[in-house]
Amino acid sequence: MFETLSKAPGDKILALMGEYAADQRSQKIDLGVGVYKDEKGVTPVMTSVRKAEERMLANEKTKTYLGIAGNKGFGNAVLDLVLAGSVDRDRVRIAQAPGGTGSLWVLMQLINRARPGATVYVSDPSWANHNPIAIGSGLEVATYPYFDPATRAVKFDEMLAALDKLGAGDVVLLHGCCHNPTGANLTNTQWDQVAESLARTGALPFIDLAYLGFGDGIEADAYGTRKVVSAVPESLIAFSGSKNFGLYRERIGAAILVARDSAQADVTNSQLLNIIRGAYSQPPDHGAEIIRIILEDAELRAEWEAELSQMRERMLTLRAKLAAAIRERSNSSDFDFVADHRGMFSLLGLPGEAVDHLKAENGVYMTGDSRINVAGIPEDRVGDLAEAILSAIR
Ligand code: LMR
Repeated sequence: MFETLSKAPGDKILALMGEYAADQRSQKIDLGVGVYKDEKGVTPVMTSVRKAEERMLANEKTKTYLGIAGNKGFGNAVLDLVLAGSVDRDRVRIAQAPGGTGSLWVLMQLINRARPGATVYVSDPSWANHNPIAIGSGLEVATYPYFDPATRAVKFDEMLAALDKLGAGDVVLLHGCCHNPTGANLTNTQWDQVAESLARTGALPFIDLAYLGFGDGIEADAYGTRKVVSAVPESLIAFSGSKNFGLYRERIGAAILVARDSAQADVTNSQLLNIIRGAYSQPPDHGAEIIRIILEDAELRAEWEAELSQMRERMLTLRAKLAAAIRERSNSSDFDFVADHRGMFSLLGLPGEAVDHLKAENGVYMTGDSRINVAGIPEDRVGDLAEAILSAIR
């Protein structure tokens, strides 16, 4: 049986975790996989999460099944968080899913049931896992222009011109905020224009919302999602609680669908639930119950929001420090974009040899496309890092 198989490509982002762990150098710096780290280099369990978890353990009476859509309280709380009042809830359905990736996967499967082989347009570049999920679901993948390597900003005119050419039956995958891997994001005015374009062409927006709260705050980061969803008859959202709740290994996310009306939402949702039942039957509850407890309790929610703000502000400080350190050493503004980008990542635009050099010579790990996780920058070694980056491109 298995002799028919050839070796599948490894995942480049996750492989970096192993390489970094095996590196014996004490001065190594991990700017690889997208996990938040505090000033000690630790990915902490948030205090609000710990408290919710304790409460959950104390009150849990049963571990019986919850149903295919998962934890209902979690679902309602996530809809409030993500959509607020932007769309009539009669048109919305939500199913808890294993992480942002699981949410993307079930929604891609849903698209393929509705339009077998439809084309999903992803930003150029996009998160490395988008293509495999789409292709594995039977869909085609094409790109729309997004990142300008010269300015390290969004080439918006080209992006919009490409979106304007799409039509009903096409799918546009958008990063709701904190673009991965580039860190370059749309302004509110640009979101307005994207929403108008989608409303005009009838292409289906599919929003990957994996970093809500990591850019400029929950409300600011939700602007684009709410704007788009309120402008069009149908849309999809893949939400992740991995980063903003620090629940990475609990695999907690949600697949959200917005249909033309309530009857269409029911039919579409029946297909979504059928996909889930045939894949993993029902989602695990642990992370969902933690998020439900936090979002439904005013005090815990305030504590979570404060912790999220602290993480966000730390990343902004690190961005400003790295940009300043490079500016001081190079006497140029070439890397000032690091301070302007938002979210966990910035795409530095270094050649592959520079990325290899940084790893071999300095123990600095980043993905092969030169994406850095800014949360991994050690605050007391920003100067060393700036020096290493400059010497790699000299
Ligand atoms: C990343 O982009 O590094 C994260 O989203 C982790 C992952 O699963 O790739």
